[in-house]
Amino acid sequence: MPSIPPVTDRLGTSRPMEVIGEAVEGLKEIFKDEKTIAERKKRVDAIIRNVPGVDYPEKIMRALFAYWAPTYDVHMKIHETSIGHLLKMANAIQPLMRYPIIRGKTLEMSCGTGAVIDMICRIMSPDQVRQMSFIANDLSPEMQKLAHKKLQQTIDRIAPENRESFLTYSYEDIRSIECEENEPGLQETNGSYRIGHDLFDLEVLAQTLHLIIDPALIKKEESGDYSGGREHIGIKIKALRSAFELLRENGHLVIIDEWPEVLSSDTDPLLADLFHRTMRPIESRQKLKRQMSHITGARFVSELKANIDFKHSMYMLVYRKDPDKMACRGKYCDESPAKKMAAERAIELLTITDRHFTDSFSPPALGWTELIPLRDVEPKIYTEVTSVFEPSEMIIMQQILHDIPDGIREEMIKKAVQAVKKGGAIMFLDEWQPSNAKKRLSRTYFRDFLQANFEGDLIFQSAHREPIKEGTDNGMTAFLYRKKS
Ligand SMILES: C[S@@+](CC[C@H](N)C(=O)[O-])C[C@H]1O[C@@H](n2cnc3c(N)ncnc32)[C@H](O)[C@@H]1O
Repeated sequence: MPSIPPVTDRLGTSRPMEVIGEAVEGLKEIFKDEKTIAERKKRVDAIIRNVPGVDYPEKIMRALFAYWAPTYDVHMKIHETSIGHLLKMANAIQPLMRYPIIRGKTLEMSCGTGAVIDMICRIMSPDQVRQMSFIANDLSPEMQKLAHKKLQQTIDRIAPENRESFLTYSYEDIRSIECEENEPGLQETNGSYRIGHDLFDLEVLAQTLHLIIDPALIKKEESGDYSGGREHIGIKIKALRSAFELLRENGHLVIIDEWPEVLSSDTDPLLADLFHRTMRPIESRQKLKRQMSHITGARFVSELKANIDFKHSMYMLVYRKDPDKMACRGKYCDESPAKKMAAERAIELLTITDRHFTDSFSPPALGWTELIPLRDVEPKIYTEVTSVFEPSEMIIMQQILHDIPDGIREEMIKKAVQAVKKGGAIMFLDEWQPSNAKKRLSRTYFRDFLQANFEGDLIFQSAHREPIKEGTDNGMTAFLYRKKS
């Protein structure tokens, strides 16, 4: 079994686990006493400042996860189930993708108790997994210890002969992953392990984006006269940009997070206190996607969704490091056969994800009855402007919308949605972006329009962008929505 590297002098103590453990005991004591909120806050602050770490976010994260680790897996069971659905969707569409998502050398940026790596190893076939290797990174030694225990059996099953190369551990702070040229692999300096410029095929950031916080902004927030945003988006994008640099060409960055981010009202008070100090979610996925589009080479690939409960869902955003985008070649391709193939592939991919999406739904509780399984229906495909739509289980509007004048386009979308039978689906498929398009139809255009007009009646399920031809910039983007039954 690969061993976990020692937590290091980087933490400013030779006995970090003990010091963190003592801090957690101190925190528990505070919450046993009756104290005013202000008094409690002062005492909690004092303890957190003593936890090993280079700055406040690192210290608070260690305290939070040292306290939460023993019960983490029990609390997060339903979240893990929905991540399992998303991984199944991603795996199911792999055979059709030019660049499969889950493969090769993989970095779990904040592995926690190892749930994501464990799920990948269960969902993929043993042969697929044997082609992979993992670095399980996390700031919290307590969480990593649980990952070590959980993944032991997995390794025994999958890779008994090459344990050390199959899975390694590191303690990097993902806010500041640094990659130096010519520094391959996992580096060891004085017992400290750092991720080098090793170029991954896959990087996963699961349920952690909301925890990436900026010490300077925390200070400002505490000063009370700060009116800036509480999303800490700058540091989040900085971390994602550095992660992107570590990817190989055509490797993928996968962000999994829950939206909207909510803390349930029955959360243990100490956990809730620590969370309020550290949870800074991005308010919308659109905002995140807009920011991601500024990262060099980051090409949107897919957005998948699985249900968590009545109030929130788990999303997976997939980006590929696209050499064509990096080189800004930006050539457009006008070959109809290539476009046709990309369109067919996009439709097929979303039809596959639909099956897994409907598996993750519990309709009666959500006020839904039955969703019509798309595998069994013949979609009605519209490729020409029309104002008459036949009632259908599934409607696809293919490559027409960008050519229709404003106003008429919206009327057409409305009529198409109305023609979809209850429990059915509608897919919008268009080229992204034809050079002669009258209108650049962004992903947010669809979402904003549909939300404004069909709030509560349509539910976004997944989106996918399929490249049309190597070395060109355009692709087919498809969006699948389900209609409430
Ligand atoms: C909510 S858990 C998610 C764990 C795992 N990815 C999953 O989905 O099951 C968040 C994890 O992120 C780690 N973490 C938070 N901030 C981090 C940072 N800046 N660098 C590395 N790990 C971090 C925490 O220690 C914790 O284990």
